[in-house]
Amino acid sequence: MDQRFSLPTDHKKLLAWVDDVAALTNPDRIHWCDGSAEEYDGLCQLLVDNGTFERLSDSKRPDSFLALSDPADVARVEGRTFICSQTEADAGPTNNWRDPAEMRETLSGLFAGSMRGRTLYVVPFSMGPIGSDISKIGVQLTDSPYVAVSMRIMTRMGAAALGQLGTNGEFIPCLHSVGAPLAEGAADVPWPCNPANVYVVHFPETREIWSFGSGYGGNALLGKKCLALRIASVMARDEGWLAEHMLVLKLTSPKGVTKYVAGAFPSACGKTNLAMLIPTLPGWKVETIGDDIAWMKYGADGHLYAINPEAGFFGVAPGTGAKTNPNALATVGSNSIFTNVAKTPDGDVWWEGLAKTPPDSLTDWRGNNWTPQAGTPAAHPNSRFTTPASQCPSIAPEWEDPAGVPIDAFLFGGRRSRVVPLVFEAHNWNEGVFLAAQMSSETTAAAVGTVGELRFDPMAMLPFCGYHMGDYFSHWLKVGQKKGANPPKIFFVNWFRKGPDGDFLWPGFGENSRVLAWIFERCGGSAEATDTPIGYVPTIGENGIEVAGLNTSETDLAGLLTIDEQEWVDTFAQVRTHFARFGDKLPGEFNRQMDSFEKRLGL
Ligand code: OXD
Ligand code: MN
Repeated sequence: MDQRFSLPTDHKKLLAWVDDVAALTNPDRIHWCDGSAEEYDGLCQLLVDNGTFERLSDSKRPDSFLALSDPADVARVEGRTFICSQTEADAGPTNNWRDPAEMRETLSGLFAGSMRGRTLYVVPFSMGPIGSDISKIGVQLTDSPYVAVSMRIMTRMGAAALGQLGTNGEFIPCLHSVGAPLAEGAADVPWPCNPANVYVVHFPETREIWSFGSGYGGNALLGKKCLALRIASVMARDEGWLAEHMLVLKLTSPKGVTKYVAGAFPSACGKTNLAMLIPTLPGWKVETIGDDIAWMKYGADGHLYAINPEAGFFGVAPGTGAKTNPNALATVGSNSIFTNVAKTPDGDVWWEGLAKTPPDSLTDWRGNNWTPQAGTPAAHPNSRFTTPASQCPSIAPEWEDPAGVPIDAFLFGGRRSRVVPLVFEAHNWNEGVFLAAQMSSETTAAAVGTVGELRFDPMAMLPFCGYHMGDYFSHWLKVGQKKGANPPKIFFVNWFRKGPDGDFLWPGFGENSRVLAWIFERCGGSAEATDTPIGYVPTIGENGIEVAGLNTSETDLAGLLTIDEQEWVDTFAQVRTHFARFGDKLPGEFNRQMDSFEKRLGL
């Protein structure tokens, strides 16, 4: 299969790798993606012809497509995600580890002939603006045209990324197959996959990714969770920077002063909504840099500079509506791919939360007729939109600045009905890191286990840290101690605190701008706070958290900001068990922090 006459690169290592993979996987054809609009249109048409895509109404949703996946391939599969470091100790207790040599053997067996009857797409991409010294180049080899077109939205994909590689630049190889070879003459299915044999595998030392069997989201769009978090977190540890599961937003005060905030929240905690928030607080403005991942490096001035390594949003559709996130709705108005949402009779999309009342009839995410009486959701709860960030009305003009934006504050948030106040500021970096490492949400009746138990998700990185989390905590402590550095202040937020009657105390959404404004003023040194054992908690009113115009009772406001010391003490046993998982890799500093925290709480 010598296609060298038309090869767009002289990069020997890349060419050799493509040859090796082709020899292993036996595709019918090789297509080098150039990232052009013509190529995108052609691949979308191919997906329509194959039955993977349905073109949505040109008048309702121009240049947009609907894909319905195999019902067995609808989400990231953490149980089938592996970190194959040389030693198990390097993967740590929070990752699935397999011996790298054994895993290579297993994968070589699975990939052998896996692309038969299909096209191998070579997808060069840049995570981050092309040419930024924070960016990294990856090349994904995939037999999924759905992945190729999605990568064009989610990354800077094609000729420019390949050009950046030159003849010997470094790239992260990302090999992907849906694991469904086609026998000669056999008909394809709309969503080929191999759910019984999913492997999402990372080799951190050699910076390689191999993914088999799934065509969906983070399992298949390998630039996102696999490269930009799991592999990048290892690179960041080795090179002294941060690769985090964080949104980045720009805040502008009524006086025209700007600050940048990066925030970590577990999946499905409203991160995309916060990144695109429309403030209710007069005069304030929020603009979006990114909604999911931040890569941050210290600049010469001692500030941490962040880029959004992605170029698009792969957002959860359900719950995205005119009230919760009008900016996201405007973003997905055209040029978007929708996966596993429902379809209206007039060729548009629908999902739970898009509007209060659903249309009388829909086609659901399984392709069946659906009515409001169906008793099942019309869109899959993890249905997604894939959409260009450049279309977002709130995108900040500097979102692609190769130098990144200087971060003033880190936010960490979980879903806690009690204990954690609406917002507080850590006393200092080490205390902040210690608290971020015990970030948690309460288990709900929707998941197995005891309701109200804490599920710990340190820095929202539990499924995404590519190495031992104890070492990750040490890396965070080190980042804050860098000589001459001016690290961001650390804040914690909790939009989900409930009152005694079980109702949420805080209205959330646009009103979160009040919390952001307090954080902003804390960074400028002018907002008031009360010192408590856990950190600085806002006072209420003009110099504290602004409540004018808020429809929340004084009792509820007090409830939102209360620190009940006994409640904190009651969580200690769970926190200690959580930290004990990390054994002797838990930083000694955390034991000191734990002791001093207990002392401050009167133990
Ligand atoms: C995501 C996730 O898809 O965090 O962003 O799961
Ligand atoms: Mn995420």
